[in-house]
Amino acid sequence: MKIAFLGGGNMAAALIGGMVERGFAPADILVVELDAAIRDRLQATLGVQTLAAPDAAVFGCDVLLLAVKPQQMKAALAPFAGALRGALVISIAAGLRLADIGRWLGGNGAPYERLVRCMPNTPALIGAGVAGMFAAPAVDAAGRELAVRILAAVGETVWVEDESRLDAVTGISGSGPAYVFHFIEALEAAGRAQGFEVASARKLALATVLGAAKLAAASDDSPAVLREKVTSKGGTTAAALAQLAARGWHDAVVKAVEAAAARSRELGDQLGKD
Ligand SMILES: NC(=O)c1ccc[n+]([C@@H]2O[C@H](COP(=O)([O-])OP(=O)(O)OC[C@H]3O[C@@H](n4cnc5c(N)ncnc54)[C@H](OP(=O)(O)O)[C@@H]3O)[C@@H](O)[C@H]2O)c1
Repeated sequence: MKIAFLGGGNMAAALIGGMVERGFAPADILVVELDAAIRDRLQATLGVQTLAAPDAAVFGCDVLLLAVKPQQMKAALAPFAGALRGALVISIAAGLRLADIGRWLGGNGAPYERLVRCMPNTPALIGAGVAGMFAAPAVDAAGRELAVRILAAVGETVWVEDESRLDAVTGISGSGPAYVFHFIEALEAAGRAQGFEVASARKLALATVLGAAKLAAASDDSPAVLREKVTSKGGTTAAALAQLAARGWHDAVVKAVEAAAARSRELGDQLGKD
C-alpha cells in the first residue's frame, strides 16, 4: 500500500514518525514537499521517498494525506484535479470542509468523494494527540479503519457522524491544549506568588496537571468523582474549589469552547469561499 503525503511539515513528520514506529514501511511512504531542506531531513531521518512535485506514483497512491496549511490547500491540490485513481484522501487541515476539498480534487464537474477529514491537536507532535474524524458517505468500513490506523499513530481518535461536529472538536481538543497551558501558567504564577522560584513553581504545576490527567485516564471513576474524593468538607481543596466556583471557572471553560467552535465555523466559511 502506497501512502503519499502532500506537505511534509511538522504534522506530517509526526504522523510519519508514528507510522514507521508502528510498522508502516518507509519505502511505501512518499512525501511531496516544496522545501528542499525538509525533504532532505525526512529522507535522512525517516527513510521515506520525497518529491518536489506530485508525479504518477503520487496520483496512483492508495492513500493521500493532505498536510499543507489550509490557506495553501487550493493551490496545492490544483495538479490533483481529476488525477487521483481512487485513493482514500485524508485531510488534517484545520477548518477546510470536505465539500471544498472534493470540489478542488474533482474532475469533469464531479466532486471527489473518497474523503476523510480529521482535526488533530498539537500533542500529536509527541504522539499524545487526539483527533476528531469524519468520513464522507463514499468511504467504506475498510477506508475508515485505514484512516484510524494512520491517525492512531499519533494518539487517540474519535469519530463524529456529522462534519459540522468537527467545529466542536476544534473547540474542545483542537484549541484545548492552549486552555491547559493557560491553567498551568496560572498554577505556576500562583506558586510564584506563594514564594517559589520559577523552576519549582513550574515543576509543581506541570507535575500536578500531568499526574491528575494520568490518574483520571487510569481510573474507573469519573473526573467528578475523583474531584469529590479529594475534597473533604471544610478542607483545603474545598476552600480552593469554592473560589473557582465563585469566579465562574466552569462556565468560563464552556464559553471558551463555544467561542472556539463558532470561530472554527467562520473560518471554514472563509477558507472554502472560492
Ligand atoms: N501543527 C498542529 O498541531 C496541527 C493541529 C491540527 C491541524 N493541523 C493541520 O495540519 C496541517 C499541517 O500543519 P503543519 O503545522 O504541519 O504545517 P507546516 O509545518 O507549515 O507544514 C506544511 C508544509 O507543506 C509545504 N507545502 C506548502 N504547499 C505545498 C505544495 N503545494 N506541495 C507540497 N508541499 C507544500 C509547506 O512548505 P512551505 O513552508 O515552503 O510553504 C510546509 O513545509 C495544516 O493544515 C494544519 O491546519 C496542524
